[in-house]
Amino acid sequence: MPRMRIASGPVLLVLLACAVVPAGADPTTAAGAELYQRFCASCHGAEGHGDGPAATTLDPPPADLTTIARRRAGRFPDEEIHAIVDGRAVLPAHGTRAMPVWGYELEARAPPPAPGRASAQAMTQRLVDYLRGLQRE
Ligand code: HEC
Repeated sequence: MPRMRIASGPVLLVLLACAVVPAGADPTTAAGAELYQRFCASCHGAEGHGDGPAATTLDPPPADLTTIARRRAGRFPDEEIHAIVDGRAVLPAHGTRAMPVWGYELEARAPPPAPGRASAQAMTQRLVDYLRGLQRE
């Protein structure tokens, strides 16, 4: 399974922790903010500053998601961020990626008969929209 090769121990622990959190609303219809708290806050922090409870175990540390635009000359690149979150197109040639490949994770959570790929892309887009709203100058 590809994810096993790129996920390090702490990442697997976080993913397991996510799995035992009581299932809330169906994630395929949840708002971006809710998806974020459910899947991302453990590493990136409740407000996106890269200071979630799992952050200290990660190298490199989780990015501060409120400064995505600031670190890119004031531009929030929708497509690039979508690709980073999905993860399947940006597997590193060398080394490890500390960030989970959400494309696989979200597809796996789309209950039948929801078409997994389309549903995962819609969830990813809601997350990207939410992240755009977190940007500060
Ligand atoms: C297991 C911890 C972990 C979880 C959970 C996690 N991330 Fe990340 N994320 C990281 C790390 C670490 C990085 C730094 C880049 C790297 O992996 O090399 C990162 C980087 C990013 C980046 C790139 C930011 C930039 O400025 O380049 C984005 C966007 C992002 N994460 C979004 C998300 C979203 C959305 C979720 C939830 C669906 C999420 N992350 C869940 C660990 C995590």
